Amino acid sequence: MSYDIKREAHVHGKLWAKQAAGFFSDPNMARDYVAAIMRLALKHNPSAIADLGGGTGFVLEQLIAAGLAENIKLVNIDTSDSQLAMCQNPRITPMKGTLESFRRVNIMGETGSLMLISRSVLQYGGILKQKPWLNHVRSQMKPGEWFVHQSGCEADVEGALALDVLFEQMGVGKWVPHKEAFVRLLVQAGFEVTDDFTVPAVEMASEELAVRYGVAPDVMAQIEADLRRTCSNRPDLVKFASSGFVFQFPYRVFLCKAVSSG
Ligand SMILES: C[S@@+](CC[C@H](N)C(=O)[O-])C[C@H]1O[C@@H](n2cnc3c(N)ncnc32)[C@H](O)[C@@H]1O
Repeated sequence: MSYDIKREAHVHGKLWAKQAAGFFSDPNMARDYVAAIMRLALKHNPSAIADLGGGTGFVLEQLIAAGLAENIKLVNIDTSDSQLAMCQNPRITPMKGTLESFRRVNIMGETGSLMLISRSVLQYGGILKQKPWLNHVRSQMKPGEWFVHQSGCEADVEGALALDVLFEQMGVGKWVPHKEAFVRLLVQAGFEVTDDFTVPAVEMASEELAVRYGVAPDVMAQIEADLRRTCSNRPDLVKFASSGFVFQFPYRVFLCKAVSSG
């Protein structure tokens, strides 16, 4: 397990559903992402859907609730034991593993078609690993198969820089690209992006960030002072209150079709 996952593992498992004001266990926040997966699953009828970094299995459960065909095998791959321990739906196979090392053959054997999904995971790769991680995902797919992911993605380069500097100041190795860079990474990995759209952002309140990442009060105060100086003209990115700040972590859903060989 990487350093960045370990440092937030104390909020995994039973506490996870309460994080970020319940964002990751809120069906409304997942609605458009789940609908996009359902549309593609209905059209292409994959033999298996694997959720990379699927956490507690929440998104797969939403697919079941939305009426996903019963013959589709569902696999939840995550690196955190405490997240996987919460995944108890008998239709879902929990599997310890990572986005960057899973093998297709362990999900479904030699035959059949695979769909991959992933929500809010690629940022853990940081600036150095998103490219190799996407290459690995593509290498486990056959041309024509789908990778549908909801990933941290800023609309513009200034927004991406502000968010990445915030992570850097908190000592967190996560990295979020802006849309143009993200599409380039996906195309280079061998995907065609057939559609993409924004979905609700996660609100990252400074008090919660301090607890989640163990950031000292003086460091948090310095970060806030810097944000007030650099981002006061970007209320779309950060809002200030007497108790601190709330930074938006923006998401975009990408519908990616495997094309050239990965
Ligand atoms: C923000 S949570 C999202 C959980 C789930 N996808 C959801 O949307 O409800 C990120 C999850 O990714 C997992 N994770 C992070 N990096 C991973 C990696 N490289 N491989 C597999 N899982 C990873 C973490 O353990 C955590 O459960």
